[in-house]
Amino acid sequence: MNLESLIRPNIIRLKPYASARHEFTGTGDVFLDANENPYESGVNRYPDPLQQALKQRISTLKKIPTECIFLGNGSDEAIDLILRIFCTPGEDQIMVLPPTYGMYQVSADIADVDVIKVRLDNDFQPDIQAIKSAITPNTKVLFLCSPNNPTGNRLDQSLVLELLDYFKGIVVVDEAYIDFCADHTLLPFLKNYDHLIIMQTLSKAWGMAAVRLGMAFASPQLIGYFNKVKAPYNINILTQRFVLDRLSREEEMKQQVKQLQEEKLKLIDAFKTMKEVVQVYPSDSNFLLIKCLHADEVYSGLIQQGIVVRNRSKEPGCEGCLRITVGTAEENSILLDHMKS
Ligand SMILES: Cc1ncc(COP(=O)(O)O)c(C=O)c1O
Repeated sequence: MNLESLIRPNIIRLKPYASARHEFTGTGDVFLDANENPYESGVNRYPDPLQQALKQRISTLKKIPTECIFLGNGSDEAIDLILRIFCTPGEDQIMVLPPTYGMYQVSADIADVDVIKVRLDNDFQPDIQAIKSAITPNTKVLFLCSPNNPTGNRLDQSLVLELLDYFKGIVVVDEAYIDFCADHTLLPFLKNYDHLIIMQTLSKAWGMAAVRLGMAFASPQLIGYFNKVKAPYNINILTQRFVLDRLSREEEMKQQVKQLQEEKLKLIDAFKTMKEVVQVYPSDSNFLLIKCLHADEVYSGLIQQGIVVRNRSKEPGCEGCLRITVGTAEENSILLDHMKS
């Protein structure tokens, strides 16, 4: 595939900013090149602009070469860069499959890029025929979210692969919740598809939402464009150090995922006994979408008790639905007590 033809011409021409730490990467004794304060404080020097040590660790963890990894200030940074790299404002379009994560639309609106929407089917799976017929020559990026937010389910892998084979633009698969169904990641397919970008994040199962670290995995050629366009030192040194240390706690993360899976099953059982809840949708993530008879009343009743869930009832395809994150055993039983009363 000719990837260059998908990149905005100004980005191909762009001469990126060359920061001091980018221009000289070797070991030196005296650094007088970056106008830093020389007195040691632990944070007085600029960080590695390409975060090599952290990428090395992520590379081992994910079995993906470092040159196929981009790290951003949350996956939201990766979404924004995708819009800026591939989509010419006022000309190109992205495609999203609602109900889905809202940031694709927001980033497109900020970038003045049109959004084609093709609804997921009744099982919240991609409608292949409708997608194929809605694609235009200006459709540059197709955003797929699996497991999907707010529905919670995985997209059928054979359908995702069919779309990858068919669509000649960029296919983004947002795997923010993949650690809750880790066997289903598309990472092993990365080497087969130059136009595939997989996004993951440390904000969910890894428990580091406040740290803001998102990952994008793609061909070295595409990652080269991310690096060309990103802010020079986009991941600060505190994040780099903290994450490097925390990633050694993979077992703890897996244990918590197991615990949350068990809690999710308990919530499903409890919701199924409630007359107010007419449907509990299948979930491969750490949250449940439930359809209620009176979603707005349940939502405000919970708020009055200080229990905050997400009211998704205004989203297309989610009428009457609340999205409920699986909490600790204690939090879940507080929720259930109030919903039963
Ligand atoms: C599907 C999806 N993608 C991305 C994100 C954002 O992730 P990050 O915290 O890495 O920006 C979220 C957050 O809720 C999400 O639900």
